[in-house]
Amino acid sequence: MKSNRGGNPTAAGSKQQRSTKLSVMSDWRPRTRQVRGGHERTAFGETSEGLFLTSGYVYESAEEAASVFSGDTEGYIYTRYGNPTVTTFEERLRLLDNAEACRATASGMAAVFAALACDTKTGDRIVASRSLFGATVAVLGRLLTRWGIETTFVDGRDLDAWDQALSPAPKLVFLETPSNPMLELVDIAAVAARAHAVGARVIVDNVFATPVLQRPIEFGADVVVYSTTKHLDGQGRTLGGAVLGSAEFIDGPLKEFQRQTGPSISPFNAWVVTKSLETLDLRIREHARSAEALAAFISEMPGVERVLYPTADSHPQVDLARSQMEAGGSMVSVEIEGGRGEAFRFMNRLELFDISNNLGDAKSLATHPATTTHSKLAPEERASMGITDSLVRLSVGLEDLQDLQEEVERALAG
Ligand SMILES: Cc1ncc(COP(=O)(O)O)c(C=O)c1O
Repeated sequence: MKSNRGGNPTAAGSKQQRSTKLSVMSDWRPRTRQVRGGHERTAFGETSEGLFLTSGYVYESAEEAASVFSGDTEGYIYTRYGNPTVTTFEERLRLLDNAEACRATASGMAAVFAALACDTKTGDRIVASRSLFGATVAVLGRLLTRWGIETTFVDGRDLDAWDQALSPAPKLVFLETPSNPMLELVDIAAVAARAHAVGARVIVDNVFATPVLQRPIEFGADVVVYSTTKHLDGQGRTLGGAVLGSAEFIDGPLKEFQRQTGPSISPFNAWVVTKSLETLDLRIREHARSAEALAAFISEMPGVERVLYPTADSHPQVDLARSQMEAGGSMVSVEIEGGRGEAFRFMNRLELFDISNNLGDAKSLATHPATTTHSKLAPEERASMGITDSLVRLSVGLEDLQDLQEEVERALAG
């Protein structure tokens, strides 16, 4: 018997009486889930969730190690496979998305790639909406093609285009709604119904909406992916991602792919995001309130060609936005009259908004997608997505709305 384990009150699996059962957590409303979900107190009775910075775990005996590895005994093996802090985060997010299972990943792109690659093989086909984050376009259009997995891109707003592309039946459907940076929407329920009719699995990138404003599984999606780097952290501190879906998919091919290829989240990052989830609902609704007001304000300004915001009356898919999302989110895209020169001048005059390619931060951020987040795409690819040199993407933060309005007015007037 090795004494360093038996007496350790924090050992994985030692549950206190006050731990809450997962079945009980499922009955909680979302605001309670985001504060309490997944929390298993250790014997120290800490208020805040414990942080287990450990790569490995110890065993009482060689027999126990063998038994944990074979799966006969439950227990953590190695942090690439699982970690108590990471489990707390996965459980909390799982409860927010109403998913059966969740696996956290090292970044949003690790989540996107794992969801796409874990269960596909040479000869499989994917159908994806065209308006996507730049790195996702690169994975679908360039990297996966090396392994003989081809993607057909469609205008995600056009259900006839989906119908055409879904014959012959693809293995996967991938979509992002609202999309980065054009804020185009895809009707999740309509596309999921069509995809399921031909046996395809539907993956939705829900980064812009977050589970507060849109829960794709409730509309029929099979898999949801996140970059937790964005709103789920909300303060621009950590990289991370997550994949959610059925237990069969997440605990099957996704888990196997992640265990063996290694894109696991650091327990520290998982802990930071777990704590951030506690304020997610409050933050996201405030982001959305400010962004909607700022979008309306900017659309009245001279020097502005077009403002894109999902729930604005001027958005071509406003009805879909209002039926699928609880609010329009934190992102506003603006086309500035005069092309790249004027767009750059506008950005350079901003003082409160930081120029950054990140998004979903308490600090307001401004991005020029054509020369940053989407610069690696061919000009034709950008054009097909509608990304012009005039486009500036604003991630509206949590500062005072009046300060943001005055700042934008000054920058446009200057
Ligand atoms: C919509 C969307 N999906 C995925 C990602 C990738 O996330 P990460 O940077 O955490 O890899 C991003 C990053 O900006 C994004 O905007």
